[in-house]
Amino acid sequence: MSALSPPTVATAGAETTNRIDLVHACRWYEAGARTVKAVDDLNLHIDAAAFVVVLGPSGSGKTTLLNLMGALDAPTAGTVVLAGHDLARATRAERTRIRRVTVSFIFQSFNLFPALSALENVQFGADVAGRAHARDIARQMLEQVGLADRADHFAHELSGGEQQRVAIARALATGNPILLADEPTGELDFHTGVQILGLLHAQCDAGKTVVVVTHNREISRISDRVIELSSGHLVSDGPPAGGRAEVEQLRW
Ligand SMILES: Nc1ncnc2c1ncn2[C@@H]1O[C@H](COP(=O)(O)OP(=O)(O)OP(=O)(O)O)[C@@H](O)[C@H]1O
Ligand SMILES: [Mg+2]
Repeated sequence: MSALSPPTVATAGAETTNRIDLVHACRWYEAGARTVKAVDDLNLHIDAAAFVVVLGPSGSGKTTLLNLMGALDAPTAGTVVLAGHDLARATRAERTRIRRVTVSFIFQSFNLFPALSALENVQFGADVAGRAHARDIARQMLEQVGLADRADHFAHELSGGEQQRVAIARALATGNPILLADEPTGELDFHTGVQILGLLHAQCDAGKTVVVVTHNREISRISDRVIELSSGHLVSDGPPAGGRAEVEQLRW
């Protein structure tokens, strides 16, 4: 797209706390002589308390999209309105402040702190969000992901799947209203993966907005809405074929 329209979504009030709106959002990377249009002119409106799954082949822009939604990155053009805040107009410091109180992020590469124990990594999530009783929350979250007995292990003393579950516990410990999860079951066996998806679903049932990026099409069956990307563009957007299934019905 050559000429981008100005953002049409105004900064809104508290009723938008769990919403995400992308208006002609672009994220282009300059890589040498080439421009990579990782996200290109996307218009997306994610409702509060929705469970949304984003599918697409490797390199299609899923992580880039999630980073834009979660204020980890700013759009090259267009805008992203996160919980009523226009991120295109926000400074880097403002984006950080907005992110800390609105978004829980589960990173594709976990991003655990190697010098902290599992418990301290999870507590960090609650601390950053300014929650009281952060230590207690962290213990509770570790228990929820089945890792109470690994609380004192450092990241390198955990398996890949355990690290992923610590990353999930850390995100949940923030208590923030929007949960963005990048391949949250990528390292998990079927049984553990289904347990984690159950946890994410429960977040949605509690009124949070949940966006899950995955390569696993089966996971899209438990969503309200499936968004498919290809080369930074939206190629489909709608409810899962056959209606929304329960977590217990998943098989892979
Ligand atoms: N910092 C960067 N600089 C240049 N190009 C980048 C950068 N980050 C991502 N890209 C490119 O943008 C495109 C989208 O990347 P992205 O990580 O969003 O894909 P993805 O859909 O999450 O892929 P995967 O399923 O492998 O995680 C890719 O072609 C990638 O090479
Ligand atoms: Mg990715």
